[in-house]
Amino acid sequence: MFNGLKKLEYRGYDSWGIAFKEDSEIKIIKKAGRIEDFREKLPAKSHFAIGHTRWATHGSVTEENAHPHLSNNKNIAVIHNGIIENYAELKEFLIKNGYKFISQTDTEVIPNLIQYNMKNNNFEDAVKNTLKKLEGSFAIAAISRDSENIAAARRMSPMVLGISKDGFFISSDVPAFLEHTNQIISLDDNEMVIINDKIKIINFMDNREIKKEPETINLDFKESKKGKFQHYIIKEISEQEESIKRAIDQDPDFIKEIANQIENAFGVFFVACGTSYHACLSASYLFSKIAKKHINVVIASEFRNYRHFLTENTLVVAVSQSGETADVLDAVRAAKEKHSRIISIVNVPGSSLTKLSNEVIMMNAGQEVSVLSTKSYTSQLAILSLLAYASIGEFEKGIGLIKKAASYVDEIISKNLNKLENLAEMLKNKKDIFLIGRSLGFPTALEGALKIKEVSYIHAEGLAGGELKHGTLALVEKGVPVIVVSTDETKKDILNNALEIKARGGYIIGFNSENNDVYDYFIKIPLLENMEPIISIIPIQILAYYLAVKRGCDPDKPRNLAKSVTVK
Ligand code: G6P
Repeated sequence: MFNGLKKLEYRGYDSWGIAFKEDSEIKIIKKAGRIEDFREKLPAKSHFAIGHTRWATHGSVTEENAHPHLSNNKNIAVIHNGIIENYAELKEFLIKNGYKFISQTDTEVIPNLIQYNMKNNNFEDAVKNTLKKLEGSFAIAAISRDSENIAAARRMSPMVLGISKDGFFISSDVPAFLEHTNQIISLDDNEMVIINDKIKIINFMDNREIKKEPETINLDFKESKKGKFQHYIIKEISEQEESIKRAIDQDPDFIKEIANQIENAFGVFFVACGTSYHACLSASYLFSKIAKKHINVVIASEFRNYRHFLTENTLVVAVSQSGETADVLDAVRAAKEKHSRIISIVNVPGSSLTKLSNEVIMMNAGQEVSVLSTKSYTSQLAILSLLAYASIGEFEKGIGLIKKAASYVDEIISKNLNKLENLAEMLKNKKDIFLIGRSLGFPTALEGALKIKEVSYIHAEGLAGGELKHGTLALVEKGVPVIVVSTDETKKDILNNALEIKARGGYIIGFNSENNDVYDYFIKIPLLENMEPIISIIPIQILAYYLAVKRGCDPDKPRNLAKSVTVK
């Protein structure tokens, strides 16, 4: 249980908890904070338990709000991922029926509704009747003092069943039990499984029993180890030469076919969140520049609002490291409702997005453990750049340029490591850091700002160089650091922006192919035809890392964040 929960911490690490049966009672251990801090409190052995690691949605990070949640009579324990949208209504109903609530979570209505439904039903039927009343997204598991069964079910939140000769596992993702078995059954929406010494799957909406055969999961996506590195993030940053090369090691005909679909679609949307969104934005400049193709780039959580434009001739390219980001899945579902075609670029094999897509390009970046996306960003850039070149019949040229960019990774890291550490030392106590860029330098500025703020907690803001004078310049005063991401073709204009900042006392850090008098600090980026985004983000990733280390922040697990965000 401990190992399984540790492996799911990428979903959230605000609090953790387990429930198990002992002496015919349900016992709960739960704590705010990360599980490693409490390892000694776990029971030695129990063959019947549920556990959870939480990323807070409803209710702050406290022990009361940690899962599992108990019913009022303490007979039923529930863990839950997702959001119960009608929880307020259900809570009101239960309160009217005399139930009391001790947490601020939406989840607590579930064990209590099961208790309520057990008045006239056995545990399994009570769970089923409860599930029918829930609106929203959920993956839940429940145990009862009075039953030898574990009940688990899902709707729009991932859940997989592991089958081994020693028993069954139910989890929101396979890494939790991969050390025990690679035989899995994926549950679909509205499916519930009853687990004892065998399993029974039913659709809880219409009571249909469902037969499913186990599939064997590919073990290539192995757990990554830190090795000689102190943190995963710096290991993953250092791996980028190889991961970029793997990203473009694809079947040429397949890539050309997808590029063809992009070229010929009537409306193309690139859809993603966070870092993956920045990769899409960067690629849209490249498609415009080299393929003369307009791409609509939309943040996944906003995509549904564009559904009016979608037709069956629309192509949606969904980009996601995890393939589980709820907003991305929701965007894809919205597109599917309009019968649009879905292509995805994904790192995690077998993830939900792969199942919703017509075609999948695997990123092959290998497991990314650090919450910050680093190597998966450059892999996404590499694949999207290759598609841009392939769409104008220049697949080979694209391969050549990307490989050249990859070959600079080690050099740029080794030449600049000390300089970046020194820079971090100088910047570590700053309140704000601004990053500006134009054209392909603009998404790099956005991504660089995201890296810095999420890991060092210094306010960092990326913006298009031209936008400075429309507001942000008001924040520039003596000593305010501004990172200038320059590309060859935007050099003149971005240097003018740098001069405008310098005139107001700003401290200018240039990321450029050549030094300039305006720069107070300079990091050399090799000149690369259209591939600067792949390479110029790497020193900023390293700077962000050093800022985190020097400020005493955890570089792999920033506060409040999760690697895979499975709620909308
Ligand atoms: C989370 C992660 C980010 C990631 C974003 C999108 O916020 O912390 O690193 O960029 O989700 O994730 P995805 O898996 O869809 O690329």
